[in-house]
Amino acid sequence: MKKLELLYEGKGKKLYKCKDEDLLISEFKDDLTAFNAQKTGQEKGKGALNCKISTELFKLLEENGIKTHLVKTLSENEQLVKKVDIIPLEVVVRNVATGSLVKRLGIKDGTVLPFALVEFYYKDDELGDPLLNDEHCLLLDIASENELETLKILGREINTILKSFFLKRGLNLIDFKVEFGKDKEGNILLSDEISPDSCRFWDVKTKEKLDKDRFRQGLGGVKMAYEEVLDRILKDIK
Ligand SMILES: Nc1ncnc2c1ncn2[C@@H]1O[C@H](COP(=O)(O)OP(=O)(O)O)[C@@H](O)[C@H]1O
Ligand SMILES: [Mg+2]
Repeated sequence: MKKLELLYEGKGKKLYKCKDEDLLISEFKDDLTAFNAQKTGQEKGKGALNCKISTELFKLLEENGIKTHLVKTLSENEQLVKKVDIIPLEVVVRNVATGSLVKRLGIKDGTVLPFALVEFYYKDDELGDPLLNDEHCLLLDIASENELETLKILGREINTILKSFFLKRGLNLIDFKVEFGKDKEGNILLSDEISPDSCRFWDVKTKEKLDKDRFRQGLGGVKMAYEEVLDRILKDIK
């Protein structure tokens, strides 16, 4: 499948049209951005790592009954995906308080939450991706009440699957962001990516951060951390 016209270039990926108009080619870039692109950088090989990590996690989720946009891998940094209309929400699921939740609510960093917290953020860079409640979503006509409920259920299901998968591999899944879209039949599919750019992983034993916080906080060793996450994913553990 050959790349045709560039449809969209985002912060972490490029989306291309291809011969089949129901499909797109998603190319993972080496670019890194944080704080709504106020901080930018590059890490050679990061795109390939995220492509591989995301592919493995989407396959795991498919095996566990979550419908996703993934069709197949095309090269080390390209996936063939089903074209969807993205629901403009970042669905964030949190197990442990850190980052913006700590800043906003004053909860102590590292506090284990009593339940998986699901949040919606409006995917709008100009507005700085603001937090939305259900009524904001209805007001902006982003999704129906039923769809919001479906997104919360899917977010929690994905969390349950990923959390136990990573725990067996010595990683604590602190939080993550996912995006969903609708295919032409109206099915809600998990889309975009799941990678250390969009998740937080803390090593169970050492508490070391193995995700994009290394870039956000200037800790160094970004690529090594992403490689470590991939190694743990590929570990054959029952
Ligand atoms: N299957 C898909 N069909 C259509 N759009 C998609 C699909 N998967 C992801 N996208 C969208 O493509 C873009 C991916 O590029 P990315 O670099 O992540 O963008 P951003 O800078 O918005 O985070 C995102 O806007 C995402 O919502
Ligand atoms: Mg993105």
